[in-house]
Amino acid sequence: MFELMDKAPADPIMGITELYNTDTNPNKINLSMGVFKDEQGNTPLLSCVKKAEAKIYATEDTKAYSAIEGFSSFNDAVLPLIFGADHEAVTSGRSATIHTPGGSGALRIVGDFLTKLSPSNTIWVSDPTWVNHINIFETAGLQVKRYPYFDKTTNGLAFDTMMSALKDIPAGDTVLFHGCCHNPTGVDPSNDQWQQISDLVHGNGLMPVLDFAYQGFAEGIREDGEGPLKLVQPGKETLICGSFSKNFALYNERTGSLTAVAADAAAVNIATSQIKSVIRAIYSSPPAHGGIIVSTILNDPELRTQWESELKQMRERIQNMRQLLAETLTAKGVPGDHSFITRQRGMFSFSGLNPTQVEQLKNDHSIYIVGNGRINVAAITPDNCDALCEAIANVS
Ligand code: LMR
Repeated sequence: MFELMDKAPADPIMGITELYNTDTNPNKINLSMGVFKDEQGNTPLLSCVKKAEAKIYATEDTKAYSAIEGFSSFNDAVLPLIFGADHEAVTSGRSATIHTPGGSGALRIVGDFLTKLSPSNTIWVSDPTWVNHINIFETAGLQVKRYPYFDKTTNGLAFDTMMSALKDIPAGDTVLFHGCCHNPTGVDPSNDQWQQISDLVHGNGLMPVLDFAYQGFAEGIREDGEGPLKLVQPGKETLICGSFSKNFALYNERTGSLTAVAADAAAVNIATSQIKSVIRAIYSSPPAHGGIIVSTILNDPELRTQWESELKQMRERIQNMRQLLAETLTAKGVPGDHSFITRQRGMFSFSGLNPTQVEQLKNDHSIYIVGNGRINVAAITPDNCDALCEAIANVS
């Protein structure tokens, strides 16, 4: 009966790479999917990962199932990585982290968990948001609604408009926030704005979910948590989805985390038991290898130091490319003030290019970006930036 179904549309992000792969132009540029590239255009395996894998290979003696929640060596190392070891959410024992198949896996578990908690649950996402958020939550049975986030006139945060929309959300609804390096805009609230968001969310009885997929890509592991972790208030619930795709470059190992923060230690036990029953019904237990890599690195002081330095190098390369992109656009005479590119954070820049221009870039210049104008700055190199800006000048 398969022929009775309609063909599904290509994925708005991964489908672009599928198209890119069929393009025979030797000068093609792929700035669609959020993947870090080095100056040579390769997505490197971090040296700390390679060393950890050698260590694992020498000592691993079983491929027996891991627990539903993954290995405790991973979970116990990731919880303090997110918060800092002396954070109240850690020391109080009211938080628990589990290992998930990527950040997407964590988000899907959240979706199923919330549907189980309350079948008519509504989740509010920023407008715009990562397109797959909507796909994941709708598939999990949640109703998805949007709150305003981006101000096109300033290329910044529409803070006041966002706050007044958040005020109108009924108590009991869930609200998704991006921890840092907002995808697709690269625009984050300031620490002071996070405090106001947190007070509103908890004051109005809303349930916050934090998608913290880019921890370490804006300013640093601890620094990136300062604002968004204000959402974690004593005695209040929060769910945090993490990913090691970007900060450990473990993309294809599908390694992520889900952290439940509850009112107290007894409540987090209940939440974890429900999350485990959700997982058992989807994939039973997580793929182990990526989790073992992360825990090996986090639990080895030398590898951990090396990881932090490699993460810093990735972060700084992206910041350099932001600078180069803004300067080259200006040099090529592309109209407008491009300084906003250097204020946005993380991998993405919401370029302001419209769907027609995105099509022209693809058809006339073999440059592939996401339909909403999102550019992966982490795939720009000193070698391709000139051609990219020349092409943007052509379609502007
Ligand atoms: C992206 O937004 O490009 C990344 O998060 C990768 C993905 O799965 O879409």
